[in-house]
Amino acid sequence: MAKFTQTEIDEINPTLKTPQNAIKWALENLHPRVATASSFGAEDSVLIDMLGKINPKARIFTLDTGRLYQETYDIMDELSKKYNISFEVMFPDTKEVEEMVSTKGINLFYDSVENRHLCCGIRKVHPLKKMLSSLDGWITGIRSEQTTTRENTDMLEIDENFGGIVKINPLIGWTWDQVLDYLKLNNIPYHKLIDKGYPSIGCAPCTRAIKPGEDLRAGRWWWESQKEKECGLHMEHGS
Ligand code: ADX
Ligand code: SF4
Repeated sequence: MAKFTQTEIDEINPTLKTPQNAIKWALENLHPRVATASSFGAEDSVLIDMLGKINPKARIFTLDTGRLYQETYDIMDELSKKYNISFEVMFPDTKEVEEMVSTKGINLFYDSVENRHLCCGIRKVHPLKKMLSSLDGWITGIRSEQTTTRENTDMLEIDENFGGIVKINPLIGWTWDQVLDYLKLNNIPYHKLIDKGYPSIGCAPCTRAIKPGEDLRAGRWWWESQKEKECGLHMEHGS
């Protein structure tokens, strides 16, 4: 297993000047034990294009929670055909979902933060854990400006939440406008809901469009307070 120490990561980080540098580093050092997590939002379309141009065999997986938008499946299909990629699709454990829904209801997440975390745990975090347990690194589309918990994140970090593997965040320093410009300049297919006011897209029942001037993530779990708006995929170290 390719383990990197914090000191090594601290030495490599300053040498990575562009998202493509980070992707190349990951693929050269960790492939095939590295995979990109995609929820098919704008950032993920950018990453899929960059990966396709660097190494079309790069692995890409998605966590299908069973509660996604039809538009999410549509863009997944479109990208799969354009780049000739077979996405690895992770589903939640059937028994866990059955028990949760039978005891707490199908829309349990609106009832309490605890229920929401339970649902995100079963539908997203457990399948992610399973996928990451066989990897030495994962690539994500997170950006610093998205949340306060992502603010101080580097391009490469050790992910203590998932066994100390390397987490690669090529777009960490990009702004929302850079993401949109890259998509448009390179004519890359992107999620249809983005132009309808959805800059951040998760599960259908937990995402709404934002109004002009609202924070880019205001439409995610909109009924909860700001500090609770992570689902467990990207946590602060030690949390
Ligand atoms: S979340 O934690 O709030 O849901 P967000 O929607 O900002 O995450 O997406 C940030 C990155 O997390 C994506 O670019 C992707 O790398 C990863 N991600 C989020 N949701 C999924 C998913 N359902 N499947 C795979 N990766 C995901
Ligand atoms: Fe469940 Fe909503 Fe979390 Fe999706 S975002 S896993 S539906 S609580």
